Amino acid sequence: MKIKNICCIGAGYVGGPTMSIIANKNPNIRVNVVDMNPEKINAWNSKNLQDLPVFEPGLSKVVKEARGRNLFFSTDVNYHIENSEMIFISVNTPTKISGEGKGYAADLKYVEACAKQIAEISKTDKIIVEKSTVPVRTSEKIKQILRLHNSKVDFQILSNPEFLAEGTAMRDLEIPDRVLIGGENTPKGKKAIQSLVDIYLSWVPEKNILTTNLWSSELSKLTANAFLAQRISSINSLSELCEETGADIEEVSKAIGMDSRIGSSFLKTSVGFGGSCFQKDILNLVYIARSLGFEKVANYWEQVIIINKHQRDRFSKKIADSIKQNNLENKVLLLGWAFKKNTNDSRESAAIYVANNLLKKNIAIEIYDPKVNEDQIKFDLSNLNTNFDESLVNYVTDPFSNISDYNTIAIMTEWDIFKNFKWEEIYKKIKKPAFIFDGRNILNIEMIKKIGFNYCGLGRK
Ligand code: NAD
Ligand code: UGA
Repeated sequence: MKIKNICCIGAGYVGGPTMSIIANKNPNIRVNVVDMNPEKINAWNSKNLQDLPVFEPGLSKVVKEARGRNLFFSTDVNYHIENSEMIFISVNTPTKISGEGKGYAADLKYVEACAKQIAEISKTDKIIVEKSTVPVRTSEKIKQILRLHNSKVDFQILSNPEFLAEGTAMRDLEIPDRVLIGGENTPKGKKAIQSLVDIYLSWVPEKNILTTNLWSSELSKLTANAFLAQRISSINSLSELCEETGADIEEVSKAIGMDSRIGSSFLKTSVGFGGSCFQKDILNLVYIARSLGFEKVANYWEQVIIINKHQRDRFSKKIADSIKQNNLENKVLLLGWAFKKNTNDSRESAAIYVANNLLKKNIAIEIYDPKVNEDQIKFDLSNLNTNFDESLVNYVTDPFSNISDYNTIAIMTEWDIFKNFKWEEIYKKIKKPAFIFDGRNILNIEMIKKIGFNYCGLGRK
């Protein structure tokens, strides 16, 4: 079937950019992105492209081209469900905070609500595409909900997980390593798969489109994230070893990564991975394994999260210990709040946890991020700890407005501007002695030490 109308439920970090690309590459398909959050939809419709709710390099250009032509953002979920042949579910699937599986399992309430709404509204056959990251066999649950609430129309379910990374989303969507589509091995299932394949074929080479059964597709998404995060925890665990042995983690990482069987990606030491997905997806995997009685498998993957927390905690401790041992002012300037550069997303950012650890020790913090605003930072801190001491926190728009008050700077996000600062100038103004904690290993150690800073990176001296 040739698709003419697509509806995507969820205008977030995935729904917005993916649908913008689909619309951009398929001018003959009308793509309606809907969300229950009117503020978000208003922001997607804002005249000023700087005000889009998602910051992604290259996104505004694509939105500018397609919006109003065949790309639309709306809060009228029911209308667009009814008027589409294909519906993507791209809503959030956070870790459950209550009930069975609390703290581990993915909360599917938003996905399930979408399925129910689709069933109640639909009067014509639909292809439902699971875009959200979900536990293996979720499509079975979606199917049951659809059937329970509507036995009159035919629903075909596909799994089409998204592999984009924030900050490089547009490039990842434009030239994906692979597009994964899972579906049923029935005549109708195969037709549905082909309809989605045809949409991607507008710009993705056929060899990069992989079709599988539903369960393989769902499980591959969870495990791809788990593998990536596992590499980061592996290198982070070695950074601690390097600090004690005199090995340099950057050299070790390079040496390991040059083995073509291992590869160099995702071997960059950091203060810990963040983002809305790695932790949630691994916890979900742990939950699934544990539910099936595979305790050793569950413990294996859980260790990736344990090391990540350990890395954040030991980085915080280094800062607190330095303040104490050197009798410094109880204040730190935190550079960066986003979980990685080139995004305004701060979900699960390591900065939140480090800030919280410092606040617990009564250390004052001043925070600067080029894309994350004060309200978001406040939300993040209170979300982690409702009783955080606001009097110890200062949000700054100019990172150096109070620089002469500080002995200690910590780099939390690898934004290019931090790398490119004129550190000699900063050194002239900052209180002495001046300490820099490089949570991303982005600075040139020789240069920074030559200027006069006391440097503390991860896994290198
Ligand atoms: P998000 O929170 O940015 O966006 C989800 C949106 O869905 C929100 O705007 C919310 O208002 C909306 N929504 C929820 N329930 C709704 C409903 N019933 N009706 C209408 N709108 C509804 O989330 P995200 O980061 O875009 O992630 C979405 C899914 O994609 C998650 O499962 C995530 O794991 C997965 N994923 C995310 C990324 C990423 O980089 N963020 C990458 C790959 C996969
Ligand atoms: C990650 C995956 O890379 C995507 O393929 C996936 O689609 C997405 O999760 C998802 O499912 O949400 P994302 O979290 O946006 O993408 O960004 P990454 O580039 O993977 O970075 C995640 C975190 O790991 C960041 O905090 C980053 O700074 C950190 N990181 C990454 C390291 O500490 N070291 C590295 O070598 C790489």
